[in-house]
Formats: sequence, C-alpha cells, structure tokens
Amino acid sequence: MAVAGNAYNSLVVVGLQWGDEGKGKVVDLLSAEADVVVRFQGGNNAGHTLVVEGEQTILHLIPSGALHEGTVCVIGGGVVVDPPTLVGELEALRATGYMLDDSRLLVSREAQLILPYHKAIDRARERRRGKGKIGTTGRGIGPAYEDKAARTGLRMVDLGDEAALREKLRANFEEKNAYLEAMLGEEVLEYEDMVEELVEAGRKLAPHVADTSEYLHDAIISGNRVLFEGAQGVMLDVDLGTYPYVTSSNTSAGAVCSGAGLAPALVGRVMGISKAYTTRVGAGPFPTELDDETGNHLREEGAEFGATTGRPRRCGWFDAVVVGRSVRLSGAMAVALTKLDVLTGLDPLRICTAYRLDGEEIRSVPAAADALERCQPVYEEMEGWTEDISGLSSMEDLPAAVRRYTERLEELVGAEVALVSTGPGREETIMVSDPFG
Ligand code: GDP
Ligand code: IMO
Ligand code: MG
Repeated sequence: MAVAGNAYNSLVVVGLQWGDEGKGKVVDLLSAEADVVVRFQGGNNAGHTLVVEGEQTILHLIPSGALHEGTVCVIGGGVVVDPPTLVGELEALRATGYMLDDSRLLVSREAQLILPYHKAIDRARERRRGKGKIGTTGRGIGPAYEDKAARTGLRMVDLGDEAALREKLRANFEEKNAYLEAMLGEEVLEYEDMVEELVEAGRKLAPHVADTSEYLHDAIISGNRVLFEGAQGVMLDVDLGTYPYVTSSNTSAGAVCSGAGLAPALVGRVMGISKAYTTRVGAGPFPTELDDETGNHLREEGAEFGATTGRPRRCGWFDAVVVGRSVRLSGAMAVALTKLDVLTGLDPLRICTAYRLDGEEIRSVPAAADALERCQPVYEEMEGWTEDISGLSSMEDLPAAVRRYTERLEELVGAEVALVSTGPGREETIMVSDPFG
C-alpha cells in the first residue's frame, strides 16, 4: 500500500498501545534523516530509551533527536515543562558531549510549567486513592494540565519576568497550600524556595525560549524534515484512551497541530509504533495481560521495567483490537514493530483478534473501563520460532515464522510494517520501507 503524505517532509511518530513501545529508539534512528525533532504533548512522565554503541540514554523531556548533532530539538507549547528537570536533563546531556550548542534546543514560550505544588498534589492524591489509584508517574502531569484548563497555569514566557512570576505564583500558592494542607493533609510548601529555584532555572533556559510555532512553520514550508515525537500512547490519551486510567494530555496524532502550533495541512504522514506484544505500567484494564510464566518471560527477556519510575511493566499478548483502533485513530499507514526478538522461544504465539463481553463477541474497545475489564480476549494462535533474531537487520534473514507473524499483524491492524526492531540498539533494525515516503 502506498503511504499517503503531503507536500511536506513531516512525519509524526506515535505509540499505538499504552506507551513504552520503543518511540525513543525509533525516533533516534529516524533523526539521522531529520532536521528538527519535536515533542508536542506530555511532560517528563515520558521515558524514552536510546541505545547507541551500547551506551544507554534515557530522555524524559528533550526530544530523541538529541544525539544527532545535525538536528534541532523543539519542545512545543502542548508540553508541560518542569524547569529544573529540563535544566538537569540538558546538563546531563552536555556532560556527555551532546547538545553543547544553545541553538539545538528550543522551548515554546507557551509551554505550561509543572510547579512543585503540582507534584505534591499528584503524589498526595495517589496516596489517598490507595487501591483505586491510577498509578501515575508522580511528576505532576495531571495537576499541571488541570491548571492550564483552569487558566491559572504559568508558562515558559512567565519565567523570564521575575516580578510577574512572583505575583502570579503568590496568587496560586495560597490556594494550593490550603488545598494541600486541609484536603490532602500534606505539609505546605515554602514560597521563597520555590521562586528561587524557578528563577535560577529560568535564567538557564532563557536562551532556548522561542516562538516555536513560527520556527516550525518556516522549517516545514522551506522543505526541512520535521519529526514529531509522541509520548505515551493512544490508549493513554485523555479522550480516546482507557479513561480514567489515562494521562492528562491528548497523545494521538491529532494533538500535533495544537501542541506544536501548526495547521493540519503542514502535518502529513503518521507512523505508529507498536511492540510485538503488549505492556502497560500503572493501573487500568488490560485484556491480554498474562499473570503467568509467559508474562514473566516477556518481562525478563524484554527488560520490561519503567524507564521513568523503574516499576515492573504488566505484560501480555499482542492485542489487534487495540492496535487496529489506534491505527485508525492516528491515521497511521505505516507501523514500526518493535521487540520481536523478545518473542523468541514462545510457542505457540497468541494474538487477540476480538473480545468476549457478557457472552457476545466484539471487535471494538468498550468506552467504560469496567466493561473493558470484563472483556475476555479471543485468541488466534501462530507458530513461534526458536532462532535468535536479535540484531538482525535484513528481512530475508528472518525465519519464515517471524515473517508470517508480522504479515498477520499487518492484516489485522490494517497498516504496513515499515520498520522492524530486533534489539534495543540503533542498528538492530530492519528498514522495510522509507517511513518519510
Ligand atoms: P518509549 O517510551 O516508547 O520510548 O519506550 P521505552 O524506552 O520506555 O521502552 C522501550 C524499551 O525497549 C527500552 O528499554 C528500549 O531500549 C527497548 N527496546 C526498543 N526496541 C527494542 C527491541 O526491538 N528489542 C529489545 N529487546 N528491546 C528494545
Ligand atoms: P512513554 O512516553 C507508559 C502512565 C502512568 C499512569 C498514567 C498516568 O515513555 O511511553 P501520569 O503521570 O501521566 O499522570 O500517569 O499514564 N504513563 C505512561 N506509561 N509510558 C509512558 O510514557 C507513560 N506516561 C504516563 O504509568 O498509568
Ligand atoms: Mg517509555
């Protein structure tokens, strides 16, 4: 199938499951061919892992183009930024010789700030929820997006003006402290400590703050290759995911326009990323979850421990109902299939093609979390393989059973596999077709 695109060279990369599909690896790889790499939503709840020549780098806020000297990394207005965390990430990269030039990082003036009270509220609420918790990353993501919608948020532009920053913070501060103390039974925060830390981070970030919407517009219309890097995955989208067990931003391809400040016509091709099986971190329904030896195999062989919080990831079979829906929702005509090497040694393999819900077979994802919780997966079985495929970089070298599995997934989800990943390293990849088209 031809990959539909537009007159421009932009490519959107989004996760098709519940996050951690390998977006970091794929975006790092594709960044060799890109001029600009852009984050457009989420915050440092993301953990994107890059492995280059055996060295692992985990990025939370800075786009995964960071290790390619020729790319500019942009943090768009739809991202929530924790300023001291961003400074820390930039300094860590610089300590290893990357991102030395200030012009390689641009941060939108409009990006909302994650403030200390957002983190305190996020963590305190989770503690109070006990068994009913969402299992957030505790990075203050939800409360920061709440304040954006409530129009009480502070933004990158406010960091540059200390007097205005102090005034806006003061107004919020009293309300947040009252909420923390009276409602959540937490300690109150110190105003001066908070302001000083922010002013210091603001000073360090000042050279990077820009009108990124205009920058990206100009970059795209002048023919540059712009790569949009999603965080989380479609199933964690606040509107389209397994609500309320989701993150607080729109994670699907549609969020690129508002999150990067671009018109739809400038955003064309979409590539979805999916693991060859499924994982999820945190609470919420997960129909194909395996609480057995096979689940342990996936967790151990796939090193399925969170890149942000270190939590063990829940593991299960590939869910074609979920991925097919995410392909449709994000308009992905190409898919990058990652972690196929992790399935080696499992026989038979199972693929979920439908659910059984209250005695009926369905091929859609119910909107209510408790209905999805009751869904029993309907499986199709496929022959596995025992050959070690780690690091293979050509389709012809793959055993026939691997190719049959890949082709079956293509049929079920309605998109072609443009890239196959056989290991965490940058070069452990099979490029089937050019994702940029
Ligand atoms: P992201 O959040 O989508 O960027 O994904 P994470 O970095 O959180 O999690 C993906 C994990 O799988 C990381 O540890 C990667 O190094 C690793 N990884 C990516 N692709 C492959 C692959 O094809 N095979 C194996 N074994 N590991 C992979
Ligand atoms: P990347 O970009 C996997 C999950 C959390 C929790 C829910 C809400 O690495 O794929 P939040 O802190 O966002 O309010 O938590 O979303 N979550 C992720 N799970 N990968 C991520 O990012 C995630 N970011 C958030 O575990 O269930
Ligand atoms: Mg991750």
